[in-house]
Amino acid sequence: DCQSASEIVIFGALGDLSRRKLLPALYQLDACGLINEESRIVGVARNEHTDEEFKATVLENINTFVKESVDESVLARFMARFVYVKLDMKEVSDYANLAATLATSDKTRVYYFSTPPVIYGDICDGLNHANLIADNDRVVMEKPIGHCLESSRVINNQVSRFFNENQIYRIDHYLGKETVLNLLVLRFANSLFTNNWDRNSIDHVQITVAESVGIEGRWGFYDEAGQMRDMIQNHLLQILSLLAMEPPRDLSAESIRAEKLKAVKALCPIDRSNIKDKTVRGQYADGFLNGVAVPGYLNEEGANTVSKTETFVAIKAEIDNWRWSGVPFYLRTGKRMPVKHSEIVVHFKAQPHNIFKESYSDLPANKLTIRLQPDEGVELQMMNKIPGIASQMNIQENKLDLSFTDTYNDRRVIDAYERLMLEILNGNQSLFVSRDEVEAAWTWADSIIDAWHATNEKPKPYAVGSWGPVSSISLIARDDRQWVE
Ligand code: BG6
Repeated sequence: DCQSASEIVIFGALGDLSRRKLLPALYQLDACGLINEESRIVGVARNEHTDEEFKATVLENINTFVKESVDESVLARFMARFVYVKLDMKEVSDYANLAATLATSDKTRVYYFSTPPVIYGDICDGLNHANLIADNDRVVMEKPIGHCLESSRVINNQVSRFFNENQIYRIDHYLGKETVLNLLVLRFANSLFTNNWDRNSIDHVQITVAESVGIEGRWGFYDEAGQMRDMIQNHLLQILSLLAMEPPRDLSAESIRAEKLKAVKALCPIDRSNIKDKTVRGQYADGFLNGVAVPGYLNEEGANTVSKTETFVAIKAEIDNWRWSGVPFYLRTGKRMPVKHSEIVVHFKAQPHNIFKESYSDLPANKLTIRLQPDEGVELQMMNKIPGIASQMNIQENKLDLSFTDTYNDRRVIDAYERLMLEILNGNQSLFVSRDEVEAAWTWADSIIDAWHATNEKPKPYAVGSWGPVSSISLIARDDRQWVE
């Protein structure tokens, strides 16, 4: 067992992320016997609570957010792990409270910063002041890590004063999703794909991450960010780098992160000179979802009416290296689209010659679809003969479909945070984002954001419940291709 006993200290333990994701994930790990018996969970927040009051809130959240029925004996073990510490995270002297709780322990400390990033530096100062940082302690950081390259450096510097890179776990929850992890298996455990994964075989790739939700009552926060910072800079670039990277030597953090970094660094810059040809920004306007009228972005509660923040982005990304030269990666992601639907479609090149012209004048190329969520699965579109005695060879497009629910129907769907939390406890950084990756991603994203700024154009409106502005269709149609619906 690689997992030592730890003190899992959650800053912002009563916040939304902790209540919805972290506590349920820890419960599930405990239920699977994956948390060291001696480990404790220390909730840290600002308000006065007794341990008992805090535990009551934890229990309430477990009952609300754990979908399966809760096992009483697991629950008893789980609840016994909790302790509460009240402290003002900006007040260095308050960290003595935490020190008192952790005093007699020689366990590995895992500090989970489930707070706004502006106070990561304060928390580090406080921990240092109370002498609570040792070489084998870990720190977990949530996004957004900055707003641009510069501000990400400020945050990373604040934390790296006291923690080494090998102690820092930067979360991108997409890396904990089963289907995203499966990209490694698909690419590197199947020679069919390993050997055809380049410009010789692949025509282009599409990555769509569509959401039907809007900005969920966080207008002010979102308005500062926009879809580029909220989704592309992190989640979509992580997917892209797993798809595009060279084969890593092994599954170690060192190997995987180095290859992903190279892929992001090889992205062709998009700047003021090519911004109009390579990108489209959109903003949702009043429309309908499932027949229900939904307000546009500028009419949401708390909105101002002049915001130019984008809620949709489409990009033609290109990777300037031997493997991918001339193969576009079309990315698109948006809020208030018709359905939640994320998938990758790899379009292979067409056959050079067609001997089935009689039944099919234009042979379609193979297409590999990786359905990330929901309805997780992998699907390979291929040609097949229609059985029958007709003298002409009748053929049709069909698919090999590996649906995860049909194939693994007795398996519980594991939440990304369960996977990530387990990796943190086990001390494995493979599924976490390195500082270099964050900086390379910001460098690419900043240039796009800067170019948008320079044009001073408003994002193009698209109706709630549509697939984005019409110009996102032109973005790909110009190359004689189309988005997969
Ligand atoms: C978050 C974004 O990182 O990811 C949200 O801040 C977005 O705006 C969410 O809705 C999407 O995550 P998932 O797991 O629902 O695809």
